[in-house]
Amino acid sequence: MSELLNQLQRRRTFAIISHPDAGKTTLTEKLLLFGGAIQMAGTVKGRKAARHATSDWMEMEKERGISVTSSVMQFAYGDGIVNLLDTPGHEDFSEDTYRTLTAVDSALMVIDVAKGVEARTIKLMEVCRMRDTPILTFVNKLDREGRDALDILDEIEQVLQIKCAPVTWPIGMGKRLKGVFDLRTETTHLFSATHGGKIQSGELIVGLDNPRLDEMLGDMAEELREEIELVRGASHALDLDAYLRGELTPVFFGSAINNFGVKELLDAFVQYAPAPRARETRQRLVEPAEEKFSGFIFKIQANMDPAHRDRIAFMRVCSGSYKKGMKMRHVRTGKTVQISNAITFQADERKHVEEAWPGDIIGLHNHGTIQIGDTFTEGEELKYEGIPYFAPELFRRVVLKDPLRLKALQKGVLQLCEEGATQVFRPLKNNDMILGAVGVLQFDVAAHRLKGEYGVEAIVEPVGVNTARWVQCDDPRMLEQFRAKAHENLALDGDDQLVYLAPTRVNLSLAEERWPDIRFLSTREL
Ligand code: G4P
Repeated sequence: MSELLNQLQRRRTFAIISHPDAGKTTLTEKLLLFGGAIQMAGTVKGRKAARHATSDWMEMEKERGISVTSSVMQFAYGDGIVNLLDTPGHEDFSEDTYRTLTAVDSALMVIDVAKGVEARTIKLMEVCRMRDTPILTFVNKLDREGRDALDILDEIEQVLQIKCAPVTWPIGMGKRLKGVFDLRTETTHLFSATHGGKIQSGELIVGLDNPRLDEMLGDMAEELREEIELVRGASHALDLDAYLRGELTPVFFGSAINNFGVKELLDAFVQYAPAPRARETRQRLVEPAEEKFSGFIFKIQANMDPAHRDRIAFMRVCSGSYKKGMKMRHVRTGKTVQISNAITFQADERKHVEEAWPGDIIGLHNHGTIQIGDTFTEGEELKYEGIPYFAPELFRRVVLKDPLRLKALQKGVLQLCEEGATQVFRPLKNNDMILGAVGVLQFDVAAHRLKGEYGVEAIVEPVGVNTARWVQCDDPRMLEQFRAKAHENLALDGDDQLVYLAPTRVNLSLAEERWPDIRFLSTREL
């Protein structure tokens, strides 16, 4: 087998999707522990602690300095090389979170057993749907009283419209938690709490009829046998093809903080999750095993290292391999660039990378020429598709303190928007600049950076916009009519695309009803 094929088949590139507080950080730490990257576990924890404490800009910058190193984590597990891409949550939630999901081959969904399916999970799942991303599910916090396991599966199926195939099953919950039962191997894994960093290992009992089960579980052994029979009858069987098509999710139960049920999850993950697959470009389907290199940019992060004030463009390698010093064609600009200082994000510091394979993420130094969605190749004219812009959910007007700085403001805002964490809208009716984002922290970041990097003192204030939709219509005359009638609510985005800014949801619905031939789109592809 060629080295390329060998390397790519070992790769598993994924992200964790969850609602804040479901346990993503804790689970990440445990996965890294199994992968032997123990120093990273500290990093994740440290970042979380920092996140709670930050408010001023210095802190924010410091935090971002740390978070980039942990925004891609690579570790070896068995024969596999796992790339875990962080999806910022909490306050630092932004469009990057969504776009990161376009750079993975599969996702891991974490659900809090007491809370079930929550809002952010629904949203992230929608994004996974766009590419039929295969999803494994981990139901977390079994050490607490939660909802009935069948109930949780039912909710996942109803709300997220995906079939559930339980792989492990909880034995008790909360104070009565005794372990998990693996439906594939009929093995019971007894629970033993270990809060420390140690890898958890409770007793394993093979076979559902094993008398050792009665010894250890008492009456609960019989309950388990009945329940397993019921579960087998009432739920979907594990169907890996359906999983790979994104139609079914294998479900695991456990407790991340106790490192319980995590090994089952990780073992299955490396076994089931797909290696890098073929990806669509505008021109053709590109196979990962093609000799020639190609990749695309899904995220740009600025000023990660306060000492350098540089920007890093995150590239997902899709085919071929990256070798230090190689020449690449930056397809949008048509220029050929030699890349000799791409970085990886392993361990605490950034290291220069010698080579990278499909599924890997490398960082390119960017001085403003690289944009989100850009494709790099070894010469071929290709454009990777499906890197979306999402309709923002929050809007603010930027107001200048010194009106003479308008030019600087416009330049600053447009450049910040190119990084993709905020979007700018310029209403047709006036000279306002409206920022849109999916996470509220982005507005503070924008104001701070306008001041720090462009010398513009600006404030952001509330504005009467509730939601935005990109407007398209096949009939130019109809579009003109619409432009004239809806002038008050129309704006141009950073790319001069027409956008409808709706003051309320009701207003949007009315506009959609009134203009059936106009498409109001909540995402726009780059
Ligand atoms: P997130 O990244 O998804 O936001 O969640 P995170 O891992 O930070 O977990 C959120 C809270 O839930 C944390 O408590 C964490 O300790 C707790 N947690 C995670 N897994 C489990 C589990 O299996 N069982 C129980 N009982 N709790 C769990 P916290 O008090 O908010 O933070 P901390 O002070 O413990 O760090």
